[in-house]
Amino acid sequence: MEYSRIKGTNDIIPPESLLWKGVIAAIHEVFSSFGYSFEISPILEPFELFVRSIGEGTDIVNKEMFIFESKSGKKIALKPEETAVLMRSIIENNIVGDSFARKYYYITPIFRYERPQKGRYREFYQYGVEAVNTQSVMRDAEIIEAGRKIIDRFGIKNVSLEINSIGCRECRKPYRDELALYFRSNTEKLCDDCRRKSETNPMRILDCKNEGCIAVSSGAPVISDYLCSGCKKDFEDMQFLLKEKSIEFRINPRIVRGLDYYSKTVFEFVEQGGVLGSQSTLIGGGRYDYLAEEMGGRNMPSVGFAGGLERLLLSIPEDVRKQIIKKEGIDAVCVYFDRETLSFSERIAAELRKDGKKIEICYESDKIKKQMKYASSLGAAYAVICGGDELKRGVVTVKNLETQEQSEISSSASKILEAINRS
Ligand code: HAM
Repeated sequence: MEYSRIKGTNDIIPPESLLWKGVIAAIHEVFSSFGYSFEISPILEPFELFVRSIGEGTDIVNKEMFIFESKSGKKIALKPEETAVLMRSIIENNIVGDSFARKYYYITPIFRYERPQKGRYREFYQYGVEAVNTQSVMRDAEIIEAGRKIIDRFGIKNVSLEINSIGCRECRKPYRDELALYFRSNTEKLCDDCRRKSETNPMRILDCKNEGCIAVSSGAPVISDYLCSGCKKDFEDMQFLLKEKSIEFRINPRIVRGLDYYSKTVFEFVEQGGVLGSQSTLIGGGRYDYLAEEMGGRNMPSVGFAGGLERLLLSIPEDVRKQIIKKEGIDAVCVYFDRETLSFSERIAAELRKDGKKIEICYESDKIKKQMKYASSLGAAYAVICGGDELKRGVVTVKNLETQEQSEISSSASKILEAINRS
């Protein structure tokens, strides 16, 4: 084979793609049910957008972006996340000029040059929500509820919600100073990268995966001890709201998130001891109250999250996966015997399609055995056998391909639908 796919990318083909289709449809449904509107933005974005928003000292900007130069010499990035892109779009299109929140959701390809492994890819999909131009902690609780709904919808067990507050500009400053002091006094135990970060962006050391740095970080001061009274109150209010919604959580003072734009609430949904191994974060998000201003827009406090679609799919239990694939698969193959019964089966297929059923006909062979084999290979739920004898008598034979049971019923669309809607 002359060509193979680029490292860290995936071919999503049936039956796996049917799972994607069902899960994506459910995500649309959940986010829409909370009043979020679907948005689509470009994959190609100016490189500087991410330097400015995600931050210079972050792994994403330092190591993980796919960047190229356009013919006119402009530095372009394949988007490594959606939040900054959406904010760029809101500012550029002058969408917000009042005091109301704007609520968006997306399902989009994202690109990061990371070392590929299970649950970590170079091209992957994120589903996410952003509530823009809102200071209300009720939005923080709302998006967390939507995240929880998505995880629960697919019967994924053992996913805990971890929350933290990383404060506002006021409380962050003394914390950063304290943190820098702490890391400087432990500088010999840090990796080269973190030694540099202790001068430029000490909070980013908390994300480092190096064992020595993790050990030093575990003794570092935590932001929760430095929160101002306003941030403390918001954090308490949010916890109250989560309790009211019966959403369990754990406060984890070590969650700071790997992007610079966050403030106040941050949270992650993390799978405990499951299939994802080291890539166990299903969803990550938080507030980014200053991002709009830092990007040159007006003051638009905002909150959002994103989850990796592949990770979500990997953690769906086998029985639920099977159910989704079955539901998304072919409902029935109409089986015929010759030219005349082909027209009969075409008519039946057309009727069933009108009702939204997924119907296939095997044009490649008029041998019934082959057509039945084809139906099984597609994972079709039913075969609707439209024979000459059936045609004369105004009936069809409906065969359940899982149980092999079959019965003869009237060839009216409503009767066939009744039969194939049964399972
Ligand atoms: P993030 O934590 O960088 O946040 O990514 C969010 C989620 O994307 C992760 O929790 C994980 O499930 C998934 N993910 C990240 N990298 C990979 C990868 N290489 N392969 C597969 N999945 C991956 C953000 O991107 C923020 N924009 C989230 C946000 C939205 N904050 C506020 N609004």
